[in-house]
Amino acid sequence: MKGVVLAGGLGTRLYPLTKITNKHLLPVFNRPMVTYPVECLVRAGIRDVLIVTGGNNPGDFLRLLGNGKEYGVEKINYAYQEGEGGIADALSLAENHAAGGRICVVLGDNIIEKNIHRAVEEYRTQPRGAKILLKRVDDPQRFGVPVIEGGKLVKIIEKPVKPPTSFAVTGIYMYDDQVFDFIRSLTPSERGELEITDVNNMYIQRGSMTWSELEGWWTDAGTFESLLKASNLVAQGGANND
Ligand code: G1P
Repeated sequence: MKGVVLAGGLGTRLYPLTKITNKHLLPVFNRPMVTYPVECLVRAGIRDVLIVTGGNNPGDFLRLLGNGKEYGVEKINYAYQEGEGGIADALSLAENHAAGGRICVVLGDNIIEKNIHRAVEEYRTQPRGAKILLKRVDDPQRFGVPVIEGGKLVKIIEKPVKPPTSFAVTGIYMYDDQVFDFIRSLTPSERGELEITDVNNMYIQRGSMTWSELEGWWTDAGTFESLLKASNLVAQGGANND
């Protein structure tokens, strides 16, 4: 399985920090943000990784990550997303990289406490489809939230005003090669983006989406509050631990 880190977008929620650099290069405790999702993939045994960047300072990703060796990446590739077309738009740039195989996608601003190795291994044995990881949070209205009926995932609602559960859909997604056909069929949402939630709902409708609950803490780092939280959590015990 190959890895994809999505580090595009303009990071407007972190303006003016993102006026001078890319969101994913900002510090989370003692390292640039993007190094955490890269390490997450490597520790799960995924060492062929595409970095999709965008916005300001894309050359700085190359300066930071280079050929990836320092971070345990065996093969690194880079792609550039124009504008702010959304997560699914950024992911569409990974089609050549995936080369018909399966991918594990991690959002560049998602940071987690524990190794996702077990979930990745479960997905490897899944005959087809996709897998997402859920996490209970205090503020589900900020995220994609699943509707679960009798243990069954029915659909995901993006940023619901009244969240149906306290689960958030984390930014760790595993897909087979169907994902690129699904992305091609999308139309932009109200916020003008191609939504990864719409892609996930297509898998759910076809009965080929599985989920498990993420162990350990999880946070995004795309707002001032969550960026601070991420730094504090990493400072207290590190990320991507076995
Ligand atoms: C995105 C997804 C959302 C998901 C979140 C995880 O939100 O749209 O479903 O729960 O990442 O970090 P965004 O950061 O684009 O608001």
